Amino acid sequence: MSPAAATGPTLHRPALVVLDSPEAVATAVAARLLRHLATEPRPVLGLATGRTPLAVYDRLAAAHGTGTSFAAVQSFNLDEYVGLGASDPASFAHYMQRHFFDRVDIAAGQGRVPDGTGDPATVARDYEAAIAKAGGIGLQLLGIGTNGHIGFNEPGSAFDSRTRLVTLAESTRQANAPDFPRGTEVPREAITMGIGTILEARQILLVATGAAKAEALHAAFHAAPDPDCPASALQLHPRVEVICDCAAGRRLWSA
Ligand code: GLP
Repeated sequence: MSPAAATGPTLHRPALVVLDSPEAVATAVAARLLRHLATEPRPVLGLATGRTPLAVYDRLAAAHGTGTSFAAVQSFNLDEYVGLGASDPASFAHYMQRHFFDRVDIAAGQGRVPDGTGDPATVARDYEAAIAKAGGIGLQLLGIGTNGHIGFNEPGSAFDSRTRLVTLAESTRQANAPDFPRGTEVPREAITMGIGTILEARQILLVATGAAKAEALHAAFHAAPDPDCPASALQLHPRVEVICDCAAGRRLWSA
């Protein structure tokens, strides 16, 4: 072992669950979230947007239909586009309202998304303060970008970064273009929880489906942590679970 490695941070391997299909992944992730809610009197969730968690929110809404209450839950979303408010269908605030908050009994104002229309520095500072006031995030749900981003922490983001204004990678703007009406520009900037903010969650649940995520997942866990792959910072956290399908997990250890 080199002297640098001997004095470096302790690295951890995530608990890994590889399942047959995206549907099985969604079911397992929803079950994991529901287990967390059942054990915490005042749960604080970190939530994610994107295509991957859509089926998870469907299952949580179904659980509400059969009696699960989200009334004690507080949640904090990872990110939002700068310039988009909750009334804009392409905003993450609108996504969360439509796919989750409106379908369960979470109390008004307890499901938070960074405000894309405010002064970014103020929004970021207040968001960090609100997370701290809630007692920190108990369980953080994360997706992963094909370039390894988590939240909107693009390659190069510092591992100790906090909630802040960021510039989106061109590949991210292209990947998310289908969420915008034709002819509308994808915003160039966003507000995202930082990697340091994410790493303060007590538990982290990373979800990935589809072959397009296989390289990013491999880069995240099969080399030393490197800001070129933001998700590789998760190796610094002792309680990370990865739930993925075979297509996304095919380059991971046991898949
Ligand atoms: C988005 C979000 C991320 C998300 C990722 C993957 O841009 N900012 O939080 O995890 O990209 O999205 P998808 O699940 O659609 O592949």
